[in-house]
Amino acid sequence: MEKILQQIIDDNKKYAEYGNVATYIPELRKANKNDLGICIVDMNNNIYEAGNCDKKFTIQSVSKPITLALAIMDSGKDKIFSKVGMEPSGDPFNSIMKLETSKPSIPYNPMINAGAIMITSMIKGKNNEDKLNRIMSFFKKLSGNENLSINEEVYMSEKLTGDRNRAMAYLLKGEGVLTENVDEVLDLYFKQCSIEITVRDLARMGVNLASHGVDILTGKRLIDEEVSKIVKTFMVTCGMYDASGEYAINVGIPSKSGVGGGIMGTVPNKMGIGVYGPSLDEKGNSMAGIKVMQGISQQMNLSIF
Ligand code: DON
Repeated sequence: MEKILQQIIDDNKKYAEYGNVATYIPELRKANKNDLGICIVDMNNNIYEAGNCDKKFTIQSVSKPITLALAIMDSGKDKIFSKVGMEPSGDPFNSIMKLETSKPSIPYNPMINAGAIMITSMIKGKNNEDKLNRIMSFFKKLSGNENLSINEEVYMSEKLTGDRNRAMAYLLKGEGVLTENVDEVLDLYFKQCSIEITVRDLARMGVNLASHGVDILTGKRLIDEEVSKIVKTFMVTCGMYDASGEYAINVGIPSKSGVGGGIMGTVPNKMGIGVYGPSLDEKGNSMAGIKVMQGISQQMNLSIF
């Protein structure tokens, strides 16, 4: 298996050249554009890795399906989906456009930034510190990694430059959709995006979604079955933003990307997949990472369709 993975990495490394690392969060510029790594964890906890699989990077938008699961379990799906829609937006992840033109002016879905900010605002807790602790503890349980922590440099870098996200949050507050303190919500959102992970952490979170929310190591339920279904459906319809349709055809694995270069894939009843390649295409998805996912899907016949 690791031979196959190594071959897929070798075959697709060249695609990194055609993309670029994210620069709008200045700290992300430091990534090495040519890094490419993969980890697969199957339902029996067999772990297969190849390429730059020990590199740490920030989770960024791959955090969105995970906080969505926590928020739905906190407040129930009726409350959550009265504030965030269920439809693909067809727009880039940081687009603000439809917030102004759609009525009611709620974000299209929880995977774009506006929707994810709303979701973070609905995480329960006594105060921001308590909310952050709950988020961190959920990510730690799902990844089976007690040592997850926040990359302070990336967090500060995004906090200093995140004005577009700030604009969306204030617009949502002005419309009465977001009801919490904007600075506090964004602080939490920037921290959530700055959690530092490896492809193994991603694969582990992916396999726990593949098992419908039951931790494959402990047998404990971490996510309600219905919630895990909702999360995976959003990964299919919106996980790769305005490239989700093409990705569903070419790869067919519920996945979520992040501008740190990560992709988390989940193949129901089979495995979780983590990929890292920080060179991004114009839609903010890992350039070589998508090719690697395509290679694995084809070679192992993993499309869910
Ligand atoms: O809010 C942002 O812009 C980043 N923290 C996350 C965006 C992201 O990862 C989009 N993914 N491809």
